[in-house]
Amino acid sequence: MRWSAAVAPGWSFDAFRDVARAALRADIAPEHLDWQAGGQGGLLAAPDVQAAPAVREAPRVPAAFVGLAGCVLCHRDPARHALLYRLLWRLANGERHLLSVPTDADVRQAMQWAQDVRRDSHKMKAFVRFREVPGERDRFIAWFEPAHHILERVAPFFARRFAGMRWAILTPEASALWDGEVLRFGPGGAPGDAPAEDAGEDLWRTYYAHIFNPARLNPRMMRQEMPSRYWRHLPEAQLLPTLIQGAGARVRAMAERAPVAPRRRIPVPAVQPPATDTSRNPSLAALRRAAQGCRACPLWEPATQAVFGEGPVDARVLVLGEQPGDMEDLSGRPFVGPAGKLLDRALAELGIDRAQLYLTNAVKHFRFERRGKLRLHRNPEPSHVQACRSWLAAEIERVRPQAIVCLGATAALAVFGAGFRLMERRGAWERLHDGTWALATVHPAWILRQPPHLHEEAYRHWLDDLRGLDEVLQRQSRDA
Ligand code: URA
Repeated sequence: MRWSAAVAPGWSFDAFRDVARAALRADIAPEHLDWQAGGQGGLLAAPDVQAAPAVREAPRVPAAFVGLAGCVLCHRDPARHALLYRLLWRLANGERHLLSVPTDADVRQAMQWAQDVRRDSHKMKAFVRFREVPGERDRFIAWFEPAHHILERVAPFFARRFAGMRWAILTPEASALWDGEVLRFGPGGAPGDAPAEDAGEDLWRTYYAHIFNPARLNPRMMRQEMPSRYWRHLPEAQLLPTLIQGAGARVRAMAERAPVAPRRRIPVPAVQPPATDTSRNPSLAALRRAAQGCRACPLWEPATQAVFGEGPVDARVLVLGEQPGDMEDLSGRPFVGPAGKLLDRALAELGIDRAQLYLTNAVKHFRFERRGKLRLHRNPEPSHVQACRSWLAAEIERVRPQAIVCLGATAALAVFGAGFRLMERRGAWERLHDGTWALATVHPAWILRQPPHLHEEAYRHWLDDLRGLDEVLQRQSRDA
């Protein structure tokens, strides 16, 4: 006699367990069971196995099977239920160690499907991109098309990662919704249900194009890591065809161009950094001019110019970065490159006007290493921070800010001194010996360097660190 078995939804372990347990108790061999794809019994289907009379106890199932089945059930292949039941049947009928026989055809197939599902889950964690819902603060929607039925399996990962956001992930067959407390699942959606791209993606693309190194391009590896079926979810993927196409020519040009002639520099007389005693009291403008002649460390030589701070002399907040980057070195202004753009976005979200801040860096010259035509950022050493210390002290002395915000470990080192552990103390306002409030948090370039799936969370955490700025300023004015 034939029986029919339906699992709904087809990826549910609980649903499969109930059906399989009923079939085992009724002692129904795999070849007498018709598994109904999609959980639907047909008109002429055989009787439901869950109504079959039990003739024995359900056997105990090894824990390894439970883990394997949970994974295999998420596979898209309609034959997965039959395969899992066949394994169960064999485990229950004398082949207790079956799962440790990797050469067995059923075991091999199950392992392969489990691996497909794990790989797809990994890709989903890496390639889901949330977009902010226009006009709704802290609400995000992502559209994703997984290869398998993995949404329920992977959604708890996003709930842990983005616990503080309200988000939805839409897929063609189901959706997951996180309201900050509870994870719910609902019907599927369409790509148009997610918002169109947002400003953050533009920034991410600019940064990606900037850091794309054609000399390290390995299209085979790239396709393996980022299969093209996921590209439609990734803002940076729109750039890939052009970047890949142009890579060969760019590498050849880099090779022909190296070594690069030193940049032209406007000669300025060498000067010593200012004495920390400010009795001579040169103005900020005079200090800025003088910094061009600084030779206190070797960084001045390959750099285009010293990048001094900018902003009102009576700014209440001084924002301190690490050192100028490539674009700052060329333009002579702090925070105008990709990190500066991210800072601008954060300030705009926090309602803080950049023009009211004094922006500067712990080190005034760009430290880099040449790779062909590219100048790649290198972290400054503590000795460079030390050499620049009196320029910073002079800026602080002139501006007398009420609060200092340190972006990154180098800035924190310059303000709080050696031994400051940024990741332990980030986001906490502390009082310096002169009464100024100071806060250290991560650098925007660190956020941009995060892998894409962590980018948004890192940015939100950073915003939270900076959020207290307004409050400190208000408290400061109350105390004054
Ligand atoms: N990073 C910094 O720390 N400062 C800048 O001015 C630009 C990038």
